[in-house]
Amino acid sequence: MSGILDGKRLLVTGVITEQSLGFGVAKYAQEQGADVVLTGFGRLSLVERIAKKLPKPAPVVELDATDPEQLAGLADKVREHVPSIDGVLHAIAFAPPGALGGNFLNTEWADVAKAVEVSTFTYKSLAVAALPLMENGGAVVGLDFDAQQAWPVYDWMGVAKAGLEAVNRYLARDLGPKGIRVNLVSAGPQRTMAAKSIPGFEAFEEAWTKRAPLGWSLTDSEPVAKACVALLSDLFPATSGEIIHVDGGFHAVGVERTENVSTGQ
Ligand SMILES: NC(=O)c1ccc[n+]([C@@H]2O[C@H](COP(=O)([O-])OP(=O)(O)OC[C@H]3O[C@@H](n4cnc5c(N)ncnc54)[C@H](O)[C@@H]3O)[C@@H](O)[C@H]2O)c1
Repeated sequence: MSGILDGKRLLVTGVITEQSLGFGVAKYAQEQGADVVLTGFGRLSLVERIAKKLPKPAPVVELDATDPEQLAGLADKVREHVPSIDGVLHAIAFAPPGALGGNFLNTEWADVAKAVEVSTFTYKSLAVAALPLMENGGAVVGLDFDAQQAWPVYDWMGVAKAGLEAVNRYLARDLGPKGIRVNLVSAGPQRTMAAKSIPGFEAFEEAWTKRAPLGWSLTDSEPVAKACVALLSDLFPATSGEIIHVDGGFHAVGVERTENVSTGQ
């Protein structure tokens, strides 16, 4: 069976559990024919165990995306497994507890700096570290949470995501001439480890379930994975600096769904 990623090689970050959005992307990418190399942060043996649960066990290379030395060595480590890549997924975010949960007015700069360093700046760092592996062009895809409005409890992570959206545009500007497309998928809420660490995250879950015109599953990340894989494939050859919402249509509507829709017939 042919897939939209046949013959492609991808580097996927951010896998820590089977619920990780990165895991969903790696899985669907393999199903569509890609060879996948994962990066792991910190608990490498755990990531290696999760990597074995993919349809085709994937090699794992270590990467703390805030560590300049590890970033500089990334291309050589990846080349131990594949000669080059066609795309890279950024699925990395972290904010210290003080930067989340409704403490916006009192958060210390050190906590804000950490959130922005890990969740925003690493998008640029990862793209640059992967450049030597993408000499024939390719795709960079990142994961966003809509930063056009203020949310309850998301606080400085929301600011970090607003920065991520800006970084997306600047990367598109600077990597376009190298034949590299750069896009974000703005996902609705999913029950991952990162999400569970946000106190009050249930508020998002409830709102999405009630409001998203298409409905929304908090535990099925395949729609997000499919959009990421489409952007990593050749199907979007002239799209860059874009943000694609995979949120059940939530961003387009203002209040809860009503069941009384008149068709005028
Ligand atoms: N879960 C959601 O509701 C949701 C919604 C929209 C966007 N996102 C985004 O999806 C992405 C993936 O998060 P997730 O929800 O799958 O959670 P997750 O906890 O499964 O993944 C977060 C990953 O970030 C990695 N990470 C943290 N610091 C790192 C560092 N210094 N270097 C390298 N990796 C590091 C962790 O190891 C982990 O694998 C994040 O950007 C997140 O903001 C999540």
